[in-house]
Amino acid sequence: MSAPIRIAPSLLAADFTRLGQEVAAIEAAGADWLHLDIMDGHFVPNISFGPGLVKALRKSSALFFDVHLMIAPADPYLAAFAEAGADLISLHPEAGPHLHRSLQTIRALGKQAGVVLNPGTPLEAVAPVIELCDLVLVMSVNPGFGGQSFIRSQIARIAALRAMIDATGRPIALQVDGGVTAATAPDCLAAGADVLVAGTAVFGTSDYAAAIAALRGGGNAK
Ligand code: DX5
Ligand code: ZN
Repeated sequence: MSAPIRIAPSLLAADFTRLGQEVAAIEAAGADWLHLDIMDGHFVPNISFGPGLVKALRKSSALFFDVHLMIAPADPYLAAFAEAGADLISLHPEAGPHLHRSLQTIRALGKQAGVVLNPGTPLEAVAPVIELCDLVLVMSVNPGFGGQSFIRSQIARIAALRAMIDATGRPIALQVDGGVTAATAPDCLAAGADVLVAGTAVFGTSDYAAAIAALRGGGNAK
């Protein structure tokens, strides 16, 4: 059973010269979450920003802060992101040898915890720790950059994870990230996703409210 659809614009595609205004604009436009992509130039071939920026934005936004860690190791930085104001912290199984411990740490910090599956990561990677998950994220691109094309083979994996989540009887969010647009969102939602990350499809448009409505299936993107 899916929860109401939540739209999580990815800050990575925002105008970095005016991030505070960009976050306020998506909040006013009906965004549910803010997706914050943390990249270290090591786990993924790009560098984005760190907890200092998350902390600065936290002061002016009431949005749910969804922090996607693409860093390895992640464990030394979990407390910093929690203290910076993350509401949820997700990480990749490949980020370290003790995924279960990492999720325990996030929960002990009082935050929601998520596991992220790359297109090449077996779904089984999340099965042993699903009782510690508030969210499972299916990457529909290889992580590292915004603006990539949606990998259609991930739709079947979303559906398989929906079944795995429903079998737990717990309200675990099922998120999709990468190449999500008004054209690809319907198949994600039909497969059982309930949180859509979108960078380019929101911040790359001139009307954020229309873009967010279009992702929900309720309007046309401009
Ligand atoms: C990719 C990031 C995504 C990215 C999505 O590594 O995890 O969140 O910002 O950007 P779009 O929506 O443009 O594919
Ligand atoms: Zn992301």
